[in-house]
Amino acid sequence: MSSLLVHPASNPLRGSVPVPGDKSITHRALLLASIASASSVIRSGGFGEDTRSTIGVLRALGVSIDEASPSEVIVHGAGLHGLCAPSRVLDCGNSGTTMRLAAGLLAGQRFASRLVGDASLSRRPMSRVASPLRLRGARIEGQADPRKVGEITAPLEVGPLPAPGFLSGLEHELSVASAQVKSALLVSGLYADEPTYVREPVVSRDHTERMLAALGVPISAVGAMVALDPGAWSGELPAFSLAVPGDPSSAAFLAAAATLVEGSRVDVRRIALNLTRTGFFEVLRDMGGRVQSNPLGEELGEPIGDVMVASAELGAARIGGEVVPRAIDEIPILCALSARAHGITTIGDAAELRVKESDRLGAMARVLGAFGVRTDERPDGLVIEGAPGAPLRAADVASEGDHRIAMTAAVLALVADGPSRIRDADCIATSFPRFVGTLRALGARIDVEPS
Ligand code: S3P
Repeated sequence: MSSLLVHPASNPLRGSVPVPGDKSITHRALLLASIASASSVIRSGGFGEDTRSTIGVLRALGVSIDEASPSEVIVHGAGLHGLCAPSRVLDCGNSGTTMRLAAGLLAGQRFASRLVGDASLSRRPMSRVASPLRLRGARIEGQADPRKVGEITAPLEVGPLPAPGFLSGLEHELSVASAQVKSALLVSGLYADEPTYVREPVVSRDHTERMLAALGVPISAVGAMVALDPGAWSGELPAFSLAVPGDPSSAAFLAAAATLVEGSRVDVRRIALNLTRTGFFEVLRDMGGRVQSNPLGEELGEPIGDVMVASAELGAARIGGEVVPRAIDEIPILCALSARAHGITTIGDAAELRVKESDRLGAMARVLGAFGVRTDERPDGLVIEGAPGAPLRAADVASEGDHRIAMTAAVLALVADGPSRIRDADCIATSFPRFVGTLRALGARIDVEPS
């Protein structure tokens, strides 16, 4: 597994760059295109390993997917009832979104399938999706989790859907905001003969709702409540063409690097600017960051725009409440910004970070500690003592197999007092395969050390 040797930035970062297509939107587009009634075209600034896992699962279900080029796939929709029993296990790799969304899709099928994942995904909680699916008549079983009574983990055995071959209606209240669970329940709702109602404590990303609405499915949202009524639907999803906007979660690493390296100015082109995803940019602005966005219109119900970020001195933040689900994947990089802010930043309401690709609160406490930053770890967050005065202490850190921890450490390394090593950095390809190349194009010096 390769390491990155990241040199402290000796020049400002400058340039205008793209980022990979939004991972969440891509997963959903691939899945809905697979059950559409004709062929859809999905173009993206690049498919990472996670979205490739979704492609692999859909292919195993008999969907024909052509890779016209590295940035374009054509999905030949099999129709709502056209998926086939897989002849192999469905490998979701590291991707929680693949597994949870696929569970919702498979719950409505008249055949059985088995979902598996890598070591990290096989530790993540799955009863949050399995329990409500069972309530609407699905068969879904996992492995008892020895760490928590009542919890299950992958592998998951899903289906076959018992007679009469339809799921029932569902009214479900999530105890934790989760777009993956909400989306799994909505997708399963396409295979139900009665409505699906899902309520969240706080609104999470709403890409599934927007895409289904754009494809003519009767779905409505009021606050944190979503309702999907299949009775008022034709039962067919039309094919579509989508140029996936760039991923704001990937853009956040470049925005943070530009903020921290003095004199920098970076433009990230054409990213998703859906308000359920822009919590990071709001917090960065509140901390004194210099961020400008330029709206460019909409794509399949998703607002898109360019974002320009310039270096700035930052003040500490209090991060908690409703912004947390809207910045859930950006909390690690917000920790890096907090480490360079004047004052003490408090992050709370973020216990979910402990069940992501790694325990991100523990991992960030370890990474920040290695760079000489003082933290206090709480069950649901971190307290970070900003150290903006002098460069950070150069560090040798492990990614813990988590792409967002690896990229956060690389950004911190740009403002350290010597070269830092980020071990086990291959995982970055999960979401941002060209991360190193993009930072180099902006002027950073990073060596890749093969294992
Ligand atoms: C995602 C939802 C979030 C997020 C994940 C992608 C999605 O997870 O952390 O990276 O695409 O729906 P949860 O649903 O577990 O909050």
